[in-house]
Amino acid sequence: MSVESPNVVPFPPVAADRKLRSATTETAQLIRAKSIEKWRSNLPVELIGVSPKMQEALDKVQKFAKFQQTVLITGESGVGKEFFAKACYLLSPQAIGPFVVVNCPQYSEGSLTVSELFGHVKGSFTGATADHKGLFDAADGGVVFLDEVGDLPPSAQTMLLRALAEKEVKPLGSNKTYSVNVRVIAATNRPLREMVETGKFRQDLYFRLRYFPLDIPALREREADWKLLINYFVDKLNEEYKLKKIFSPTSLKFLEHYPWPGNVRELRSIVTIGFSMAESKYIEPDHFVCELRQSSLPPVDTKKGDLLQKMVEDGQSFWDAVHEPFLERDLNRAQVREVVAQGLLAARGSYRRMSVLFNIKPGHYQKFMDFLRHHRLKSE
Ligand SMILES: Nc1ncnc2c1ncn2[C@@H]1O[C@H](COP(=O)(O)OP(=O)(O)OP(=O)(O)O)[C@@H](O)[C@H]1O
Ligand SMILES: [Mg+2]
Repeated sequence: MSVESPNVVPFPPVAADRKLRSATTETAQLIRAKSIEKWRSNLPVELIGVSPKMQEALDKVQKFAKFQQTVLITGESGVGKEFFAKACYLLSPQAIGPFVVVNCPQYSEGSLTVSELFGHVKGSFTGATADHKGLFDAADGGVVFLDEVGDLPPSAQTMLLRALAEKEVKPLGSNKTYSVNVRVIAATNRPLREMVETGKFRQDLYFRLRYFPLDIPALREREADWKLLINYFVDKLNEEYKLKKIFSPTSLKFLEHYPWPGNVRELRSIVTIGFSMAESKYIEPDHFVCELRQSSLPPVDTKKGDLLQKMVEDGQSFWDAVHEPFLERDLNRAQVREVVAQGLLAARGSYRRMSVLFNIKPGHYQKFMDFLRHHRLKSE
């Protein structure tokens, strides 16, 4: 940690953490379906923040976690909603069970969605050759995290309400219900209350979901936090690359009144890009661009979402975000080539800098280059 060391709030406390490590290993064996994103980031979750609003949110999450009821996490994009959801899960009695992420925008109206979430029985539609268990079943004993719950289609909203109210689900095509023991944590950056008023979201479901409401403040409302977060992310990179870079006083002044439209995700991206661009100790304003989305980081439009964002802003490594899906044929060569080309653009033509953006450890640089060469993925 640097001199101006951030106030790191470790989640969960060390003793609980040890217990949870083994729980997550079991979870790893339980969860294999593609649509389930197992939480496998390193424990404990570190939520940075000393501002009063952040302290209030941290206090709430620790209290809410202890119970069984639903938590609704709201806040702008990139404020840390998923991070808080993971903290809530880890601190909860449900931490001995799985943490199953449901990315609601990927589900459209129709039977397939109901089947994915709640299962189906053999013969319930063409192609249903066997009984199938849904994501709620996979999360039994643990947590279902409904990300972007505002995008859940009406039929799934109705099924979800039943799951919350009666604690039971009915698979598609079945006339039997069965009980589930699942805690729901939901998140959204959409105005759910207004959506209820305009009939786009069920009111009864809204009230059930917000049993424990948790609003995460925007970064511009947490004045005391942004510098800590910059130091925290730079320190992490320094540690990994065995360097001693820092944001220069000019850079910090430059960012003083920045409104952080993309919140912590954008801040992390500024740090990663600045770190990879600076060739000496100091990261200067020239090394990063604030409106990253419009300038140096055009989004990569693939079925898997914005891959570049996963690496640069969410800190996933190339191996997890791109290499593994490529080997599993979830991404094709053209898509990987495109990400590499975008990364190279953001790294202003340097593969070495791109490897930093892609969170590749220095010792794995050669392996990365060999992979690109072998699969002819390098940009001309
Ligand atoms: N308080 C924090 N301390 C450390 N890292 C944080 C904090 N808040 C957010 N982050 C980091 O910021 C990034 C964005 O967080 P997260 O994905 O949880 O945001 P979100 O609110 O779910 O965004 P979206 O609405 O776009 O889905 C992640 O890389 C996360 O690690
Ligand atoms: Mg999110």
